Amino acid sequence: MQGIVQQVRLFIFSLCEGKDWDWKGHIESVVKYSKILAKKLHADEEVCEISAWLHDTVKVRDPEEAWPTHHIIGAREAEMMLRKLGYPEEKIKMVHHCILTHSSDKTYMPETLEARITASADAMAHFDNFLALAHAMFGLENKNVPDARDWLVKKIEKCWNKTMPEGKEMVKDKYEAIKVVLGVDS
Ligand SMILES: [Fe+2]
Ligand SMILES: [Fe+2]
Repeated sequence: MQGIVQQVRLFIFSLCEGKDWDWKGHIESVVKYSKILAKKLHADEEVCEISAWLHDTVKVRDPEEAWPTHHIIGAREAEMMLRKLGYPEEKIKMVHHCILTHSSDKTYMPETLEARITASADAMAHFDNFLALAHAMFGLENKNVPDARDWLVKKIEKCWNKTMPEGKEMVKDKYEAIKVVLGVDS
């Protein structure tokens, strides 16, 4: 039988297929930073990795109207999926909290190290995939240049502020480079 991490990975990859935005690239970057931060900070690496693979399942699968509650629904669905796969209950609880608190919904704030890592890695991923953000604005949303630029500036600042200090060290160069491209004064 395949390991649980491999099963959730294949599950999310199948959901990403054929989507018009680069969800696979986003999620792979979230996983990458989650694993690095978990190792560095001695968090539960498996919980961080599984949370990263599953954090945006609802966004990948459902139309945009469902996105405002994707963290709540996604946390519940991950819980059910992991229970079916026989994952230990105490770890399911940890993954649930990571997914529930990864978005910017202030009602649900990260209270564990693993959850802070998930939220941070989610923000950091956007520095890896800046072109995908630009594609969302210029391509999918068809915005004009000034509006797209303003949105990107706000998004990048929000991601930077959401990144934990240990993560900031890792993405600082990319953050600075993106600001240069967007014409933001340092
Ligand atoms: Fe999300
Ligand atoms: Fe995400």
